[in-house]
Amino acid sequence: MRHLVTLDDLSNFEIEQIFRLASGMQSQLETWAGICRSKLLATLFYEPSTRTRLSFESAMERLNGGTLGFADPSATSAAKGETLADTARMVTNYADIIVVRHNWAGAARVMAQYAHIPVINGGDGSHTHPTQALADLYTIIRRKSEVEGLTVGICGDLQFGRAAHSFALAVARFGGKLIHIAPKPLQMPPWILASLEQRYGQIPLEVESVTEVIEQLDVIYVNRLQEERLPSNMDAAAVRGSYLLNAEVMKHAKQDAMIMHPLPRVNELAYELDDDPRAAYFEQSANAVPIRMALIASLMGLEQLILTQPPERDITQSTHTCKNTNCITNHETYLTPERETLNGDIKLQTCAYCGHLLS
Ligand code: NCD
Repeated sequence: MRHLVTLDDLSNFEIEQIFRLASGMQSQLETWAGICRSKLLATLFYEPSTRTRLSFESAMERLNGGTLGFADPSATSAAKGETLADTARMVTNYADIIVVRHNWAGAARVMAQYAHIPVINGGDGSHTHPTQALADLYTIIRRKSEVEGLTVGICGDLQFGRAAHSFALAVARFGGKLIHIAPKPLQMPPWILASLEQRYGQIPLEVESVTEVIEQLDVIYVNRLQEERLPSNMDAAAVRGSYLLNAEVMKHAKQDAMIMHPLPRVNELAYELDDDPRAAYFEQSANAVPIRMALIASLMGLEQLILTQPPERDITQSTHTCKNTNCITNHETYLTPERETLNGDIKLQTCAYCGHLLS
């Protein structure tokens, strides 16, 4: 059984295979259209979504599969207090594959533990958003051939933006050089920085304003302030409206730079850039459909090209209490905290659910 909870669940080789399959599906849909006939995708969206849910539904239905699910958890048994574990066990009987989005970090990991069908993480709290990162990488590769050697600036709410987290880890893994651009309270959290350094040998330059580095960037990835995740002790007024990519800033960027954004945008990416040939954000959302088609078919084992051995995770039971209040272990009481140690010589100890450092 294979899941996609974080990008660590796929090897680089498998990611490249998914890109090849996505590209084939994009150019020759009729060849693949029947592959999911009589299969069902459950879309369990405990948090708002436009692109992720609709592109997953579009992906499944273009492959002649069906979809069922919810976009409003207040109309489900979650409102009566049902746990994720019980929902996972039950949905196993109704569908062949699950995509779940939840406001708690680690929710998709819990679903994967209790469901007997593949689970895809459609975004878990401020943790990760692996399918967005796959669509992002695929978009870069289609324009620039490869990620290796590119200088990639990630700008905005890097503290709470799960799309920014997955994207940073993905870029580093495929050999891109990162620059983190954010006001200090919104800079990347320690667990991402530790992972970048220990696994990929990167200590990204951190700057507060995009104008400081704009000339260097091959890719500028902007994300919105994650208002709904800001802790009550944070001075939101100080960071609100503190960054903006507009035509004036882009005058100083490379002619062949790419402007990316996972969307939705609020006030950090000017509409005047939409006609700039460097804008790639609508392409990103369009590419999410073939990527999700390829992923669904692969995880269900309908397409032979993957999967090799699941990458090893070194998990041990632990008595830790995760300090991350957004972690599911602080919300669902039946879970035994687990500690994950990265393989090989790396001694990084993290919470197996939300990725936060434990030491
Ligand atoms: C992102 C998300 O939900 O994390 N949106 C998306 O899936 N494309 C980004 C965001 O909400 O800011």
